[in-house]
Amino acid sequence: MSESRVPLSAPPRAVFGTMERAGDDGGYTVSKSVSDAIKAGYRHFDTAELYSTTKAVGTSLAAAIASGLVRRHKLYITSKVRGMGMGMGTDMDMAASAESPSYDQLRARVEALISDLQVGYLDLLLLHWPGPDNVDMLQSPPENVEKACHWGFYEQHAETAWENMLRLKRDGLVQNVGVSNFYQRHLELLVGAFPNPLDRPFANQIYIDACHQEQEYVQHMRSAAVGVQYTMAYRPVAFSAVYNMLEDVAGGFAKTVAEVTAYENANASSATPTIISTHSVILAWMSSRGILPVCASTNTAHIEANLAASTLASTEGFDFDESLSTGLQGHEMVDMYGGCDEFAAVFKRLGAGTITDTAAASVAGVTSPSSVSASAPGNGNAA
Ligand SMILES: NC(=O)c1ccc[n+]([C@@H]2O[C@H](COP(=O)([O-])OP(=O)(O)OC[C@H]3O[C@@H](n4cnc5c(N)ncnc54)[C@H](OP(=O)(O)O)[C@@H]3O)[C@@H](O)[C@H]2O)c1
Repeated sequence: MSESRVPLSAPPRAVFGTMERAGDDGGYTVSKSVSDAIKAGYRHFDTAELYSTTKAVGTSLAAAIASGLVRRHKLYITSKVRGMGMGMGTDMDMAASAESPSYDQLRARVEALISDLQVGYLDLLLLHWPGPDNVDMLQSPPENVEKACHWGFYEQHAETAWENMLRLKRDGLVQNVGVSNFYQRHLELLVGAFPNPLDRPFANQIYIDACHQEQEYVQHMRSAAVGVQYTMAYRPVAFSAVYNMLEDVAGGFAKTVAEVTAYENANASSATPTIISTHSVILAWMSSRGILPVCASTNTAHIEANLAASTLASTEGFDFDESLSTGLQGHEMVDMYGGCDEFAAVFKRLGAGTITDTAAASVAGVTSPSSVSASAPGNGNAA
């Protein structure tokens, strides 16, 4: 019987990040960690035109496919075009290039991405940020990013940018299209301009961690009015070292780890608790909220533990929100000590809306975190 070549319809829950760390080493570190991640069972990889690692990631993916370790259609490859895919001019305000956005130019860029990644098509393509393409998101100071990604630029170019993305999908280069670093006002403009539910962003990849939980915003995105199907959380554990330096926050984490471990001991069949670290707790908590954590590691033991935590079923029923909220969410010292993604803070400010707890809860079609858990996407191993 011939094997199905239909791409995965749902993104595997555990996502492996491939952004370079500590500079560009020619992709060596990322290439090795992607190979380790595939061996461990990760099937969903997050890449980007911005990262210098795409060719190295492609080499590792191609090697895994060639060796028979995994088949292409069992992999889920997410990538992102820089900014809003409007052109790669050199002027910071992008005036010249943005006036003549070209689908053909964008298409050529996406074809180059697919070629570097050696995957034939992308399962998911995101607009990396709501602003001009030439902002150097890895090096620019946040104030430059804020200046370049002003609301006027977004408002002027959002519809064309999204038309181009839908066309890439129609043309078969990508299976799904979405956004990243988009907040309430950004999404509302898109949804207003593209009312057909099939044309809405499939996913939004934003910064979420234990101290920046985005409970109301995630609910709002899932509402029928907005209709984003998947929330992906980037940098879910990146600031753990900072949090551990803050007594209250570290205490909050320790309490949650102890509670989850006790829950595991009481409910799991194995005598050894699966959850052993704050990192695992954060990833399991995201999974329980139906969020896809995008986590990176260069350490084989961490890679295995993160995959296990991101796809964990045994904590279903544990009330993470109750435990993790205490002393963590909105802690006033966190941002002061640099425990926050500063670019995400910029985009959040630029796209600030008016969601309140009450408003979010009353939006039609809102799914509660506990019921989301039951309908959360499948895990990486099952794919
Ligand atoms: N859309 C966007 O704008 C955007 C922005 C930033 C990042 N991203 C995506 O998000 C991905 C992740 O970002 P990130 O690497 O900054 O953050 P992260 O994955 O949350 O954190 C990575 C750090 O945590 C450590 N770590 C991971 N698992 C661990 C564990 N189990 N125990 C102890 N330490 C652990 C890693 O060290 P070890 O290597 O020692 O494990 C590394 O120092 C990126 O690769 C990229 O794909 C997207």
